[in-house]
Amino acid sequence: MYKILVLAGDGVGPEVVREGIRVLKKVAEMAHLVFEFEEAKIGGASIDAYGEPVTNEVLKQAQSSDAVLLGAVGGAKWDGLEHGKRPEQALLKLRSELGLYANLRPALVDPSLVHASTLKPEIIEGVDILVIRELTGGIYFGAPKGIEKNHDGSSRAFNTEVYSTFEVERIARKAFEFARKRKRRVTSVDKANILESSILWRNVVSEIGKRFPDVQLTHMYVDNCAMQLIRNPKQFDVIVTTNLFGDILSDEAAMLTGSIGMLPSASLGDRHALYEPVHGSAPDIAGQNKANPIATISSIAMMLRHTFHLYDLALCVEQAIQLVLKEGFRTADIASANGEIVSTSQMGDLIIERMKH
Ligand code: IPM
Ligand code: MG
Repeated sequence: MYKILVLAGDGVGPEVVREGIRVLKKVAEMAHLVFEFEEAKIGGASIDAYGEPVTNEVLKQAQSSDAVLLGAVGGAKWDGLEHGKRPEQALLKLRSELGLYANLRPALVDPSLVHASTLKPEIIEGVDILVIRELTGGIYFGAPKGIEKNHDGSSRAFNTEVYSTFEVERIARKAFEFARKRKRRVTSVDKANILESSILWRNVVSEIGKRFPDVQLTHMYVDNCAMQLIRNPKQFDVIVTTNLFGDILSDEAAMLTGSIGMLPSASLGDRHALYEPVHGSAPDIAGQNKANPIATISSIAMMLRHTFHLYDLALCVEQAIQLVLKEGFRTADIASANGEIVSTSQMGDLIIERMKH
């Protein structure tokens, strides 16, 4: 029996998570397993109920679960809150408290959706990139940070980009290990021509790389990488990078696939794991049964693979998604001229119907 903590959150979070849970229930039935679901509030929903984006109680629940499934957080209602109390803080707290240092964001172009991208089909056909973003260090968490007053009454604000050897070692190791299951190529992205933290990053990644002689390692500056992702995305297999660069590049990689509504993510630590769609809470379409649940359902496939080691079932979920797309069913965000538009829950139904061993 496995325990899954469900943090649906705000906006479209609850709608897409509902479909994810239905897929997990189907998996449980197929594999004769029991998943126990525990639900709790996160983000704006938690602010409204308890006055803070995530409570200690929820952090404890997360620590005692086998996996966490998260929807999305945030919305206009909470935008005016002071910095430390905004819904996004919940994500940062979960990441750091659970030690989720490796964020996996695959950008895989589905053959049926080649025309949904803003880029030319010949550029993106066959793109299969895994962005591995360091998630608990760098400028997101570095000290000192703050906003101070200058003598003349003006202000001065600062953050610190800081990495220690062990932080780079463990994320690099993850990147090489994942590359071994793929095309055995790692591109490490940094700004080592300017930043000291990137000089350390590059040296440590190179050192770890020596232990993986079967994996080809390339270093690339972040500005060049941003350009190469648009110019020739097929050159990439695994991209490993820092927290901030990974935040930016993973959105860029996501858009290669046409819709951010398609992309799953996994945040892994040595003991815990959290799965969530890459997209946000999309308040403009919340509650309308319009959101694309595929990112969440793909995140469930990642959960089955990385936490439960149910490789066949992960594949079964992914194949069901591919099949539904091939048959022409689309949610509004990936609508095509001849495809049929379906709702969030219909998309869930269609995928579940196609799940077969
Ligand atoms: C992401 C998001 C978050 C981040 C925000 C919402 C804190 O952009 O998961 O990429 O910057 O990490
Ligand atoms: Mg982001």
